[in-house]
Amino acid sequence: GKVAVLMGGRSAEREVSLMSGGGVLAALRSQGVDAHAFDPAERELNELKREGFQRVFIALHGRHGEDGTVQGALELLGIPYTGSGVMASAIAMDKVMTKRVWVAEGLPTPRWQWLAPERQAREDVMAVPDAIGLPLIVKPPREGSSIGISKVSGYSQMQDAVSLAAQYDPDVLCEEFIEGIELTCPVLGEGPSARALPVIAIEAPEGKYDFQNKYYTDVVQYRVPSGLAPEEEAEVQRLTLAAYRTLGCRGWGRADLMLRARDRKPFLLEMNTSPGMTGHSLVPMSARAAGISYEQLCVQLLQAATL
Ligand code: DAL
Ligand code: MG
Repeated sequence: GKVAVLMGGRSAEREVSLMSGGGVLAALRSQGVDAHAFDPAERELNELKREGFQRVFIALHGRHGEDGTVQGALELLGIPYTGSGVMASAIAMDKVMTKRVWVAEGLPTPRWQWLAPERQAREDVMAVPDAIGLPLIVKPPREGSSIGISKVSGYSQMQDAVSLAAQYDPDVLCEEFIEGIELTCPVLGEGPSARALPVIAIEAPEGKYDFQNKYYTDVVQYRVPSGLAPEEEAEVQRLTLAAYRTLGCRGWGRADLMLRARDRKPFLLEMNTSPGMTGHSLVPMSARAAGISYEQLCVQLLQAATL
């Protein structure tokens, strides 16, 4: 039957989604799937029903796509879709909520404080470095692709970092900076049959793993195999699976982590429930290392679409 690839949307990651969706669309068509692009920024989701779409591949990122809202609409329309359901999508979109759930389950994540800058005094902002130490990372909790993120190394940078993040989200997450290796680990499947794919180690010049370099340059190096010791790789995969199951994810996802240099301890940063599928993206890279082509990955995700 007809398949819609949802791409574009209204989030700050719109341009990334158009790249992901373009890749997915071409891959599905190459495998004989009757796939069509559908941009929910331009059209009503109701049209999916009227036009007889039988499944949806969600290639949207960020708000109104990765956050449970589109998933809820598709539930109401009764059209099976790829990836996580409403609750897991909504929690994972919010890095603060995600951390609360992980901490409650004993999973390691960097220390943090959250601020609501509009309602808080300057003194509250300046107290954060005392509470969690410097350097620290300031982020909008419901964004992706490094949008609105700063690393703060001194008190004087704090206010600007919070103001930048606040342009994207009324809440701001301040997180302890973990010095070490940035890692990512994809998961495919659901429940007991979910499995982690190979870990990727990300090597970027200091401060350079940003939006531009994620998608438009080659300054970032990706290592897969990761170069971690086998028991470290296994531990990162185990932790990622636990993080995925705890949030109730299904279909696929990708955890981002830091491996602390001084003691090689892994920390979970976030779970992406609609990971990038661009030419620079990490799930396709890891899948390829596991012997799964981009086309196979797209077909497999679509076959697992559910309500
Ligand atoms: N948020 C981007 C799309 C990613 O995690 O791949
Ligand atoms: Mg993300």
